[in-house]
Amino acid sequence: MGLSEVTVAQAEAAQRIAPIASVQNLYNLTDRSAEDLLDWSAEQGIGFIPWFPLATGQLTGQGSPLTELATQHGATPSQLALAWLLKRSPVMLPIPGTSSVAHLEDNLAGALLELTDDEFETLSKTGAAQPAA
Ligand SMILES: NC(=O)c1ccc[n+]([C@@H]2O[C@H](COP(=O)([O-])OP(=O)(O)OC[C@H]3O[C@@H](n4cnc5c(N)ncnc54)[C@H](OP(=O)(O)O)[C@@H]3O)[C@@H](O)[C@H]2O)c1
Repeated sequence: MGLSEVTVAQAEAAQRIAPIASVQNLYNLTDRSAEDLLDWSAEQGIGFIPWFPLATGQLTGQGSPLTELATQHGATPSQLALAWLLKRSPVMLPIPGTSSVAHLEDNLAGALLELTDDEFETLSKTGAAQPAA
């Protein structure tokens, strides 16, 4: 089964009833309140689906706090936000929403970006300095 918006304790309780395929909690560069569930999912080998992976668009476009870093990297802010998620954990399965084919293609290309450890740390600090979406 898949679970959404659960704590680690709730996921463990559910796991005693039936196998869990995935969990889905709010998680992105600016809101990492589900960090403990993410680590637990990785330990268990369970897929972690971060909803609002682009902070509802606040990490995308010209007004994004990632714009400067993205320009330096030759990428878009959305791609950096998604690449950061994918580097964060091997069980991460982002589901960015979009109404645009161009943005879909942009986001898919983000899956091919590989961040260095330094880039990951810089993005982590940049995201932590932003108000949570
Ligand atoms: N489990 C739960 O409780 C829960 C709760 C909320 C949401 N969700 C799920 O989470 C998923 C994502 O939610 P979401 O779509 O609201 O938030 P999101 O993925 O964080 O952000 C989507 C926003 O980012 C913009 N965007 C996407 N790609 C872009 C790009 N490459 N460049 C510029 N802007 C871009 C979109 O605008 P454009 O349309 O213009 O691209 C849209 O405004 C959905 O599948 C939703 O169902 C689950």
